[in-house]
Amino acid sequence: MLDTLDKIESQALKSLEAIEDEAQLQEWKVRFLGRSAELGTITDKIRELPKENRPALGKRANEVKTRLEAGFQARAESLRLENLDQQLRGEQLDVTLPGRKMVYGRIHPSNQMLRRISSIFAAMGFQIYRSREVESDEYNFELLNMPAFHPARDQWDTFYTMDENILLRTHTSPGQIHVMRERAPEPIRVILPGMCYRYEQITARAEIQFNQVEGLAVGANITFTDLKGTLVAFARRLYGDEVRTRFRAAHFPFTEPSAEMDIECFVCDGEGCTVCKKTGWLEVLGCGMVHPRVLEYGGYDPEMVTGFAFGMGPERLAMNIHRIEDIRSFWANDLRFLEQF
Ligand code: PHE
Repeated sequence: MLDTLDKIESQALKSLEAIEDEAQLQEWKVRFLGRSAELGTITDKIRELPKENRPALGKRANEVKTRLEAGFQARAESLRLENLDQQLRGEQLDVTLPGRKMVYGRIHPSNQMLRRISSIFAAMGFQIYRSREVESDEYNFELLNMPAFHPARDQWDTFYTMDENILLRTHTSPGQIHVMRERAPEPIRVILPGMCYRYEQITARAEIQFNQVEGLAVGANITFTDLKGTLVAFARRLYGDEVRTRFRAAHFPFTEPSAEMDIECFVCDGEGCTVCKKTGWLEVLGCGMVHPRVLEYGGYDPEMVTGFAFGMGPERLAMNIHRIEDIRSFWANDLRFLEQF
């Protein structure tokens, strides 16, 4: 029996060395340490032997069992390390491969222009005020001195919701009323940037969505001169000190008097070209002195305060400055366009 134990030990340890994977290791375990392994059978037999023969054989059987178990543990551990090693080899990187170039996102041309406009007015002491894009008929028209059925409303083709009193703002001017009602009777100096919507046939010149930047100043003794001075200073900072400006009389129901500011076409220096449609001038914005009735609607006493307001389209300005020919490019999300800015 001692011979058999020796034989089991050497056979088991030898075949342990030949094991290559986890499955074989488990098979080995069943074969040499399992319930019906030879080692177990022998142990059973030892119990049936006469008492004096048992200790030596029992001791040896235990020893073999311990060695086999230790061998099993050691092989299991070395298999684990071999697997890990292989896995790491599979994952290794070739650090000499050329890297892939990072594609940087950039600021949308409309937002670039919005930021430029905002920073110029911020430097002149204007605060930025955010106003809602979904408006009531009252704020978009009525409180801007355009009662129901007023023909001036036709200037702004409007997207209405199912509720005809709720609409998408057609300009940022309703924000004027919101600021005034919030601040009255304090003086105001704010700009209101944001999206506007119009029910337009989409063409190279007209979009159904676009940004505007509204400006509003309200206080004692504000005059048309303040309006002109502010807007000329703005034009100089945006286009350069040399820029020439002109104000043309215009009409808006919520300002009186009203004007539009042009700058001399910087493409042809006023000679007349395709960009300025042969006029030599580019229209930049609409403006005027806040209509007394609008001041009143805003909660101010038109006997005590006056104000000026203006509104401009950043996409229009960006189109002139960058010679963008089609306003649809702004929302088409074509990277070939966007990556130029
Ligand atoms: N809201 C006018 C428009 O959309 C622009 C404007 C604003 C004119 C403020 C005068 C004063 O055309």
